[in-house]
Amino acid sequence: MPRVGVVILYAQVVIPSCPGCPAGGAKEEGEQSLQASVSQYHLFRNMADVMTFRRSLLSWYNQEKRDLPWRRWVKEEADLDRRAYAVWVSEVMLQQTQVATVIDYYTRWMQKWPTLQDLASASLEEVNQLWSGLGYYSRGRRLQEGARKVVEELGGHLPRTAETLQQVLPGVGRYTAGAIASIAFGQVTGVVDGNVLRVLCRVRAIGADPSSTFVSQHLWSLAHQLVDRAQPGDFNQAAMELGATVCTPQHPLCSQCPVQSLCRAYQRVQREQISALPSSPDIEECALQSKQCQLCLPPTKPWDPALGVTNFPRKASRKPPREEYSATCVLEQPRATGSPLILLVQRPNSGLLAGLWEFPSVSLEPSEQHPHKALLQELQSWAGPLPATHPQHLGEVIHIFSHIKLTYQVYSLALEGQTPVTTAPPGARWLTWEEFHNAAVSTAMKKVFRMYEEHRQGTGKGSKRSRVSTPSSRKKPSLGQQTLDSFFKPHIPIDTSSSTAQ
Ligand code: ADE
Repeated sequence: MPRVGVVILYAQVVIPSCPGCPAGGAKEEGEQSLQASVSQYHLFRNMADVMTFRRSLLSWYNQEKRDLPWRRWVKEEADLDRRAYAVWVSEVMLQQTQVATVIDYYTRWMQKWPTLQDLASASLEEVNQLWSGLGYYSRGRRLQEGARKVVEELGGHLPRTAETLQQVLPGVGRYTAGAIASIAFGQVTGVVDGNVLRVLCRVRAIGADPSSTFVSQHLWSLAHQLVDRAQPGDFNQAAMELGATVCTPQHPLCSQCPVQSLCRAYQRVQREQISALPSSPDIEECALQSKQCQLCLPPTKPWDPALGVTNFPRKASRKPPREEYSATCVLEQPRATGSPLILLVQRPNSGLLAGLWEFPSVSLEPSEQHPHKALLQELQSWAGPLPATHPQHLGEVIHIFSHIKLTYQVYSLALEGQTPVTTAPPGARWLTWEEFHNAAVSTAMKKVFRMYEEHRQGTGKGSKRSRVSTPSSRKKPSLGQQTLDSFFKPHIPIDTSSSTAQ
């Protein structure tokens, strides 16, 4: 048995007042009363520890912080609305996307739309185009809707508190509102994103399900308690930075951690190591222990010595994504010079991938093996009558959209030897390959295109291409000829006014 001295302490009054916090912003309803039932082990017991935490974290951040474009905006931009806009864009892009990926998108976005007014006058098409490949496309759409709202209804001025930002801006939740308010306006309010959640769970040994209301409220309380009163924006960014670079999910670098001395997860690792010694010092543990404590590791998932500090936070049990199936076809027609044209159609303006462009596609039942007929009908609904022919199957592309695993059966069909058709009905466009690369298409469609391109270059598996016989290549007229002839029109230049290329 480890010989561990147990310090039993309960919190009576836990959260110090937060002078700069908006009513209801810093302390959500119920948080304080919840705290009264929490063991001191999962709290910061005294102000000295809180001050040490702030000082250590901020001085580490000043030395180690990455030079990121949005941080430069905050430093150099004096206008509060412009500064808040710059933070808002960065925070929305950083949701569910790595910093390294965001940098390039952010830089292009801020060059194209340096102010709220610029973004407000952009079209959804342009926004989707720039966002192409970043995923979760509703984020970009909501940003643009928000910019319009601020310009049209609020005289171009963003609300100055987290609470109002959250109320007013579409898609802005508690975290993003707190990040904008603290970083751009210096409001004293804590934030909890995935990185901060991990830091706090480790620092205070919180092993219960972080998605539960109780744990979530406790984490927000801790964040509000800890946030530095003089430099809330830097403090919040430092906490995120610590989670992103040191207190990482899999292989945390505890030896480089500025708050190691205050970390209960680290202390627990030490305790396990020294518990074998004949005389071990008193190291605190939760007075309630996991039986009754709503914040400790649950009895069903006790401490695993092999995991060390990564015992915290507890992994959320994720529902597996829903499986869906689709068939999609790259329909191409040659041009006299350059790459062939390929047909893209626009998705509806709401729902998954709203407003983005894709190759004509049909949904499939899981058991559906031969979607040729349905796919051909879909192609004809956009491109006009086609002869009865089989598109060539190129392979399978699997893409995970937030909660859906979508498997695309990828086909291609080449229309050869024709006078090209350059017009398309509303909602469809013939694009060059170059235009495709600049268009508002999802990552899944980029993968589909890569498969098609590889097959065309003969590098894909089974690269023999499917062709539709055409009047000039066919010796005997066939049933399909009439329909094809009516489909192909005399050559006219491509309608660039509706092209997605910039
Ligand atoms: N993740 C989200 N926002 C961030 C920020 N401002 N700095 C670092 N990582 C972040």
